This record gives sequence, structure tokens and C-alpha cells, in this order.
Amino acid sequence: MNNLKGQVALVTGANSGIGKAVAMELATQGVKVGINYVSNPEATDQIIHDIKKNGGEAIALQADVSKEDQAQGMFKTLIEAYGTIDILVNNAGLQRDSPIQDMTLAQWQLVIDVNLTGQFLCAREAVKEFLKRGVVAERSKAAGKIICMSSVHEVIPWGGHVNYASSKGGIMLLMKSLAQELSPKKIRVNGIGPGAIQTPINHQAWETPEALEKLLTLIPYQRIGQPEDVAKLAVWLASDDSDYITGTTVFIDGGMTLYPGFSTNG
Ligand code: BGC
Repeated sequence: MNNLKGQVALVTGANSGIGKAVAMELATQGVKVGINYVSNPEATDQIIHDIKKNGGEAIALQADVSKEDQAQGMFKTLIEAYGTIDILVNNAGLQRDSPIQDMTLAQWQLVIDVNLTGQFLCAREAVKEFLKRGVVAERSKAAGKIICMSSVHEVIPWGGHVNYASSKGGIMLLMKSLAQELSPKKIRVNGIGPGAIQTPINHQAWETPEALEKLLTLIPYQRIGQPEDVAKLAVWLASDDSDYITGTTVFIDGGMTLYPGFSTNG
């Protein structure tokens, strides 16, 4: 029993992959969920339909999290609909991979804007509401919870993906600095560092048997992760069961951060 029932969450980038699984799992726990998305309204409608069929509550929130006015408008709509917000899952993210010599400024900028600036903009709006409302004992021990979806690449350098790795390294210190600043206000901020999770973002890494075999050499636990693995962790980090945890990234990676190359070398 996580006692999340009746709380309100916003999950960004919630109409596919990890975000979708997190939104669905929160809804299963009785959380009213704002499903943020940019494109593919049909996928969003389907998720909302599924949530409602299971007795949950959810609304669609179209917004590009990297645009200040759109991020602010999204929070306004959510708070008008559900009264407040208790949980922000800063999940929206993308990759635009390229060797450094060919990486365009547009590729760099888009990834930093969505992955990092988007998390800043959404965290800022959530914090305003958390501070305004404060702790309401019947809801949660905390005035609010922020979960920043990071990656193993907040610590593992990733050649060919310097924009993405830089955004994730930035998310780590955004998360920790926010946690330090906001702990006295009873706001918890944590990160999740997924490894290889089977979603559209990394389909090339698992869609053929050869690719999967190569990927598994990086995963000591010898299986690719599933979005539901991450969803269960997000629910726990949002709940009072993890009330004493703040400023921490929990890696969920089947051991990818254990430097598996060193198990037979070095
Ligand atoms: C990336 C995936 C990658 C995984 C492990 C994630 O953050 O989005 O593309 O498979 O890290 O390298």
C-alpha cells in the first residue's frame, strides 16, 4: 500500500515508452494523472481510455516542455482540473545521435532544450504549487515529489551521443541542487537512472537478435529492462514509503553501471 490514492501527478512525455508505463501505474494506484504529450494524440487518447476503463482518472495535456508558455499553460490546466499537483515525473526526453564532427547545433540544442530545460521549466512550475500548498498530512508527508528521469548516461560517458549524455549529466545536478534547496520545504527530488529499457527510443539496440546479443554484453543481469520495471520504481519514489530519500538517483539497469567489461579484463 503506497497510499497515493487521490494525489495528482503530471507525467511528461507520457504517451509512449517509460512515461506511458509510469502514468498507467500511477493511475492504477489511484493517482489522477496528467498525460503530457507533443505529438500522436491518438496514442494519448488510447492511454486515457485504458485508464478510465480501469476506474482511473487522467487528462491529456499537449505541450512542448521546452517552451516556457506551453509548460506554464499545462500546469494551469492540470491545476484547474484537479486542484493541485503532488507528483511531477519529469520524463520527456529524446535523442539526436551523431558523431561530434557532424553534430549540428540544432541537434545539440533540441536535446538540451527538451531533456534539460524542459525539466527545469516543469520543476519550477511544480515547486510554485508545492510551496503555495505546503504539506497536507492527509495527502502525503511531503509537500511535493519530483522524479527526474535521467539515465545511466548521467555517469557513463557515451560517444556519439554527447548531446544526450550532457543533458543527463545536467539533469543529475539539477536534481541534486533542487533537492538540497527544497528539502527544508519538505519537497523531495530524486532521479531514476534507467539502463537499456525496451522502448522506441532505442529500438535499434534490441530489434534484431544480433543487436540484442550485443546489448546484453553490457547488461550483467542478462535481460533488457521493461517500462514496467521503471514504473514500479517511480511509484515507490513518489510514495511516502520512500519519504527519507531525496537527492538520489536510483539506477535501474540490470548492472549496466557496474562496468561489465571489467569482469573479465583489467
Ligand atoms: C538511452 C538508450 C540506451 C540506454 C543504455 C538510455 O538512456 O535512451 O538509448 O539504450 O540509455 O545505453
